[in-house]
Amino acid sequence: MIHETILTTMNTEGDVHIAPFGITVGEDSLVIAPFRPSHTLDNILDNPHAVINYTDDVQVFAGCLTHRRHWETRPAVEVPGVILCQALAHTEVRVTKINDDKQRPHLHCKPVYDEMHAPFQGFNRAQGAVIEAAILISRLEILPLEDVENEIAYLSTAVEKTAGPKELKAWEWLMEYLEEFKAHPGESSQFGSMK
Ligand SMILES: Cc1cc2nc3c(=O)[nH]c(=O)nc-3n(C[C@H](O)[C@H](O)[C@H](O)COP(=O)(O)O)c2cc1C
Repeated sequence: MIHETILTTMNTEGDVHIAPFGITVGEDSLVIAPFRPSHTLDNILDNPHAVINYTDDVQVFAGCLTHRRHWETRPAVEVPGVILCQALAHTEVRVTKINDDKQRPHLHCKPVYDEMHAPFQGFNRAQGAVIEAAILISRLEILPLEDVENEIAYLSTAVEKTAGPKELKAWEWLMEYLEEFKAHPGESSQFGSMK
């Protein structure tokens, strides 16, 4: 099973990086699988710890993909790292094994500390739609644009029917980004490294 989370990592200089990551929940470990090149991977190779943040604030997912990476954090409890202030819960992990790969290494992690901060409030379709759209946006360079636009059109119904202000803002950021991408075909490097 894969949980869509916000991963916070910190290198030994104290530089924090915040990025959405799908975490595979295995029988005896949690697995982070970054595509190279990855700032997250660089940080973890320098400091083999991370914080997995579980949040329903989809602005953080959409924001990180649209170059809004500065979210409030506070120090982690047991590992050198930081906790996202919007987290409903978080898990601090230590990387115990790396299955290296030229394209996508697998980082196996052991939880060392868990904490809950706020209650889960139930599912919201617009939040799900924003996560799906964020994944599409992160793959603009490899997916056919027509497929992305068809899926976005389908997802937009859930946003129109069920979004609150945070979901609307997150959706707006993603749609602005998509329009920029369409306006500058072939110049996607200006949008940063997206996979
Ligand atoms: C919900 C979601 C899940 C993602 N999961 C992964 C993942 O498992 N591995 C990955 O390399 N990128 C994933 N991405 C894309 C990264 O968040 C994005 O490309 C990020 O910038 C990673 O590169 P970085 O470590 O250099 O920041 C995901 C994006 C979203 C929206």
